[in-house]
Amino acid sequence: MIKYRLGIAGVGFLALAFIVGASLISPDKAAKEDLDLSEDLRVSKVLTILGDTGKDNLPDTREFGVSANRGETLIKEGFSTRPGGGKTKIQSKHFVCTSCHNLEKEDPDLTKSDPEARLKYTAENGLPFLQGTTLYGVVNRETFYNDDYYLKYGELVDAARNDIRGAIQLCAVECAQGRKLHDWELESILAYLWTIDLKLSDLDFSAEELDAIYLAIDSEDKQDEAIDLIKSKYLLGSPAHFGSAAESKGLVPNLIGHPENGKMVYENSCLHCHQDRRFSYLQLDDEKLTFKHLSKKAEGYGPHSIFQVSRYGVYSRSGRRSYMPQYPLEKMSDQQLADLKAYIDMRAE
Ligand code: HEC
Ligand code: HEC
Repeated sequence: MIKYRLGIAGVGFLALAFIVGASLISPDKAAKEDLDLSEDLRVSKVLTILGDTGKDNLPDTREFGVSANRGETLIKEGFSTRPGGGKTKIQSKHFVCTSCHNLEKEDPDLTKSDPEARLKYTAENGLPFLQGTTLYGVVNRETFYNDDYYLKYGELVDAARNDIRGAIQLCAVECAQGRKLHDWELESILAYLWTIDLKLSDLDFSAEELDAIYLAIDSEDKQDEAIDLIKSKYLLGSPAHFGSAAESKGLVPNLIGHPENGKMVYENSCLHCHQDRRFSYLQLDDEKLTFKHLSKKAEGYGPHSIFQVSRYGVYSRSGRRSYMPQYPLEKMSDQQLADLKAYIDMRAE
């Protein structure tokens, strides 16, 4: 992390940051001479200062009852207190948002969507490894349900691709298989998501690059360049390409599976939902019989093949609306499937 000693330009910069970011940065820090800018400054604020016209994705707090706290409980528990008193109806019978999304940073390098680096990073940080992209920094992204999600949701994606509100509603109904959110709930979720936006310290800047950004603040002709520089440090949309079970099945025998990575996939991903039937009626556990079953079914085309479920997910059965989301290639590589297979086969012995 870069400790940045503030020069004169830096102080001016901070003053400006306070005007724009008023409630977001605590004012007494302004007095400190030696500030760890990387800790506090929001990427969105720096961009605004540089003249980037952001999207209209700030929460509308005029809506009655909007609060980041309520948004947080909705995301983590599926319901919250109602502004008028009492509790809301549960948003989904099947899932909460955190069934499929982390709320923390999950990639060591935000310029890449690399599942192998992510598996390691999430394991080190005690986080699950999931099909949905982390909601940390989602307010900084510009497009949603990218690439092949159009294949899955078709025209439903139109309202979501460029609009975070549309993305949240689509996910509430289609991913979580639940009810639509009320306006105040949606705005509360957005308010919470703005508490987990990207900070400058999440991005990898050299001291020279930081200098260039500071200089750009009072020199208009450098601002576009500085904006581009900042935006080159994280993905503006989370890429998603769907694989095929047959292709993965064909590739995996040519790869060397590493059971220790497979164990992480199994425990941090599969068990996140299947242990104790947390989000699925199907129980997966640490028993030899379970591994024998998964090992035997892997090569087939049935719904218990790890290749089928990971590449296509599982559609809801009649009478239930629960389903398992697929893993795009960016969320589970073929190498990771080889690792998972190696672990399952080892445990089945
Ligand atoms: C069953 C799994 C599941 C649940 C539950 C779920 N999501 Fe998602 N969500 C996904 C998947 C898969 C995507 C596809 C895009 C991605 O995240 O990579 C997605 C996408 C999103 C996106 C767009 C992210 C992007 O960068 O494209 C947002 C915002 C979002 N979800 C919010 C929510 C919220 C809020 C909830 C709870 C109300 C929720 N999701 C519940 C699986 C889920
Ligand atoms: C986000 C939660 C989630 C994750 C992660 C997840 N699953 Fe699932 N899985 C489900 C749900 C939900 C179902 C649908 C069945 C149901 O309605 O309970 C399902 C279905 C399945 C089924 C088929 C059940 C049937 O009878 O049709 C298998 C097998 C399975 N999962 C294995 C896995 C494996 C292996 C992994 C890890 C690579 C995994 N799951 C990861 C939620 C999840």
